[in-house]
Amino acid sequence: MTVIDMHSHFLPKIWPDLAEKFGSANWPWMKHTQTGKAMLMLGDKEFRPIYQACWDGATRIEEMDKDNIDIQIMSATPVLFAYARPAQQANECAQLFNDLSLEICSHDPQRLKTLAQVPLQDIDASCIEVSRAVKNGHIGVQIGNHVGNKNLDDEGLVTFLQHCASENIPVLVHPWDMLGSERMPKYMLQWLVAMPAETQLSIMSLILSGAFERISKDLKICFAHGGGNFSFQIGRVDNAWRQRDIVRKDCPKLPSTYVDRFYVDSAVFSNESLQLLTAVMGDDRVLLGSDYPFPLGEQSIGKLVREHPQLADSSKRKILGENSLTFFNL
Ligand code: CO
Repeated sequence: MTVIDMHSHFLPKIWPDLAEKFGSANWPWMKHTQTGKAMLMLGDKEFRPIYQACWDGATRIEEMDKDNIDIQIMSATPVLFAYARPAQQANECAQLFNDLSLEICSHDPQRLKTLAQVPLQDIDASCIEVSRAVKNGHIGVQIGNHVGNKNLDDEGLVTFLQHCASENIPVLVHPWDMLGSERMPKYMLQWLVAMPAETQLSIMSLILSGAFERISKDLKICFAHGGGNFSFQIGRVDNAWRQRDIVRKDCPKLPSTYVDRFYVDSAVFSNESLQLLTAVMGDDRVLLGSDYPFPLGEQSIGKLVREHPQLADSSKRKILGENSLTFFNL
């Protein structure tokens, strides 16, 4: 069987100086500290220490072999999105990083695949760029889970999702720009608390707004990190939907019935969580995703699924690869 890790990230080794190019501050750049190691910088602030797997296809393949991964699908690190910048600048960033990610894949295009990024603050430009990227070899698109105060049920974002549905372009939704960050300055709480809430918020916005009623059933959309808090809290939402008309006013069906409209990855890091996730979503809707090569990713990719004490072998095969083969049209 083909084992596919569908949630991993890249950063090119180097790219043009965006602060100089656009004449504004706080752009991401790479500060190479020693051979194979770098600090991802935002302006003059250190954002995250990284290593050469981010930009070196050979290192990725070596580490995939160690974990018995056949295909890895990479997407941009969300700090590259530039959604809060002028749209033209975000569009230039999307084109730049989309082209650079294909260069990383060119080391072994059969095993290294990539998702595009788009300037999501400009829907027309996003539709054009995602179609261009897919023509060039990208197998889907990764989007941030919101653009400023716009959630996924925003009319423009729904238009973009509809465009992806009509062109059979799979979408990965990744949380970023976390809510309540001012209350979470320490201990990576933005990643530990706000990220799963962001993802849950995105799924709930599509369900409760009735957006899933308007979007084609052809849309293939997957949420990172097991869909965040969604699976654990869907019972609370169903109860609220039954009890309060303000919850159900735009959502004609019981919220939990919409689980057949989206997918989640398996990056939940505990047997109990993966069991719950598979029970809520069904084993057809969970895809192996690691968040490689970052410290908060699964360190031995696929181990949680492969060694799960309760999941059936047939479910493991689906999660490890069969579901992604279909989802990504591979
Ligand atoms: Co990620």
